[in-house]
Amino acid sequence: MEDINKRLEEKRAEAMLGGGQKRIDSQHKKGKLTARERITLLLDEKSFQEMGMFVEHRSKDFGLDKEKYPGDGVVTGYGTIHGRPIYVFSQDFTVLGGSLSETYAEKICKIMDLAMKSQTPIIGLNDSGGARIQEGVVSLAGYADIFYRNTRASGVIPQLSVIMGPCAGGAVYSPALTDFVFMVEDTSYMFVTGPNVVKTVTHEEVTSEDLGGAKAHAEKYGVNHFTSPNDVTVLKEVRDLMTYLPQNWQSLAPHKKNFEFNGKKIETIGSILPENNNMPYDIREVIEHVIDDESFREVHKDFATNIVVGFARVEGRTIGVVANQPISLAGVLDIDSSRKGARFVRFCDAFNIPLLTFEDVPGFLPGTDQEWNGIIAHGAKLLYAFSEATVPRVTVITRKAYGGAFDVMNSKNIGADFNFAWPTAEIAVMGAKGAAEIIFRREIAAAADPVAKLAEKEAEYAEMFANPYRAAERGFIDDVIKPSETRNRVANAFKILENKKEELPNKKHGNIPM
Ligand code: COA
Repeated sequence: MEDINKRLEEKRAEAMLGGGQKRIDSQHKKGKLTARERITLLLDEKSFQEMGMFVEHRSKDFGLDKEKYPGDGVVTGYGTIHGRPIYVFSQDFTVLGGSLSETYAEKICKIMDLAMKSQTPIIGLNDSGGARIQEGVVSLAGYADIFYRNTRASGVIPQLSVIMGPCAGGAVYSPALTDFVFMVEDTSYMFVTGPNVVKTVTHEEVTSEDLGGAKAHAEKYGVNHFTSPNDVTVLKEVRDLMTYLPQNWQSLAPHKKNFEFNGKKIETIGSILPENNNMPYDIREVIEHVIDDESFREVHKDFATNIVVGFARVEGRTIGVVANQPISLAGVLDIDSSRKGARFVRFCDAFNIPLLTFEDVPGFLPGTDQEWNGIIAHGAKLLYAFSEATVPRVTVITRKAYGGAFDVMNSKNIGADFNFAWPTAEIAVMGAKGAAEIIFRREIAAAADPVAKLAEKEAEYAEMFANPYRAAERGFIDDVIKPSETRNRVANAFKILENKKEELPNKKHGNIPM
C-alpha cells in the first residue's frame, strides 16, 4: 500500500513541475507566475480540486512521442472564490509553450461541460503559443470545440478570460466569445496575426505591444475590459469582479448585506453640475454620490470614454450603471460608445443585473467618419440592447437629453421602468440655439438685428423646452427630483422592482444590428 501511495505522490510531484524547473524559472524571469501559482491566487485557499492531472497527449509526430508532460500543458478543475464554486483552466506556458493539443482541448471542454451542467461560472487563464503546431488539424478542431462551447454557454453562465501571456491566432476567439477579458500590461498580448506576418503582408512595422498589448486593445477597440499591471493584481481584480456577478442566468448576484453609504455625500451632489450648462463635469462623481460607498467597478475604463459603464451596488445589491460622460466629447453618443454601452447592457440583462442610467447627452456625433463607419447600425445596437432588456431599469436625466439620443438612453418609451429628471434637465429635439436657427430662420433673416433676434428666439425655445416639465407633463418622465433625492428614489425604485417579471415575445432569437 505504501508503495502504491508513493507512486501516486511521485506522479503528482512530476505533474506539479509542468515543463520542468528550468522553464518555471524562465517564466518567473519574465515576471509571470506559473499556471498553478495563478490558480492558487485566484481561488480561495486550498479550495482547488484538480481534474485530469495525468492526461497526456496522443501525438507521435515530430518526436512528440518522446516529449510528454502529465497534464499536457493545461491545469483544469474547480474551486471557490469567496466561497462560491467556480470552474477554472490555466494554460501552462512551461509545457510546449502552453500550446493547445487535442487532449488539452478535451480537458478544457470537459470542465466547460461540467460548468454548464452545474450552471457555474468558468474562468480561463490564457498563456499559450496557440495551436500545437506538431498536431496540425486536430489542434484546430480542439479550438473549434472550445469556441462552440463558449458560444453555447454565452448568456447561461458568466465566462471570464484572463490573458497572462501570448494569445495568438485562432486562440484569440475563445476570450473574444466570453463576457469579460482581462489583460496584464507588458506580459500579455493578443492578435490574430503577429508582427512578422503583418510585416510580410502589409509592410507595416509594429511591435507585439503596440499591435496587441493590453493598452492598445483597451484603448483602440475595447477588446479587453480590464487592464492590470501584473499577475497578482489581475487575479485580485477577477476575484473582486466575481462578487458582483451571479452564478448563472437564473440566479441573482450576491447581496452584500453590510453595505455602507455615507449619507452626507448626497447633500453635496447638487454642486457637481457647473452653473454654465455647457461646461463639463465628471459623471463618475454623480455615480459615486448615489451608489454604496466604494462600490463602483468601471468596465472598459480606457475605451470610448464618452460613456461610462460599470458595476456598482445600491443597498448591497449589484446594479449595472450606464452614463454619458460630459468630460469626454461632451458625452455624445458615437460608434464606440454605442457598442460599449450595448455590450454592457446585454450582459446585465442576460444575468439579472438591474440597470441604472445617468443621462446627459447632447446627441449623436456628426460627421462622415461616423456615418460611413456605421453609426446608424452601431447606435441601433444600444437602442436594441436597452429595448430588449427585461431587468429593472431606472434612468436619471441630469442635464441634456437631446434628439434621438434621448430615446436611446433608456427612455420610458423603450421600456424603462422609472424615469427621473433633475430640475436642470433639458429634454428637447436639440439645443435651443440650433433649434431657433432652424425654425425661426426666416424671421431672423428678416430682422433688423438678426443677432438679437436669434438670442430672443433661442431664449423663447429654451424657456419652452430646456427643462424637464414638458416631458413630465406627458409622462415621459415619472418625476422631477432634486439631486439630493436621487439616492433615495433610485434605491426605492430598485426595491419596488425587485420582483419584476417581463418576458420577450416568443422567438428563436432576435436579430441585433451588427
Ligand atoms: N506549438 C508547439 N510548440 C510551441 C508553440 C506551438 N504553437 N509555441 C511555442 N512552442 C514551444 C517552443 O517551441 C518552445 O519550446 P522549447 O522550450 O522546447 O524550445 C516553447 O514552446 C517556448 O516557446 P518560445 O518561442 O521559446 O517562447 P517565447 O516566449 O520566446 O515566444 C511565442 C512565445 C508564442 C511568441 C512563440 O513561441 C511563437 O511564436 N509560437 C508560435 C505561435 C504560432 O504561430 N502558433 C500557431 C498558430 S495559432
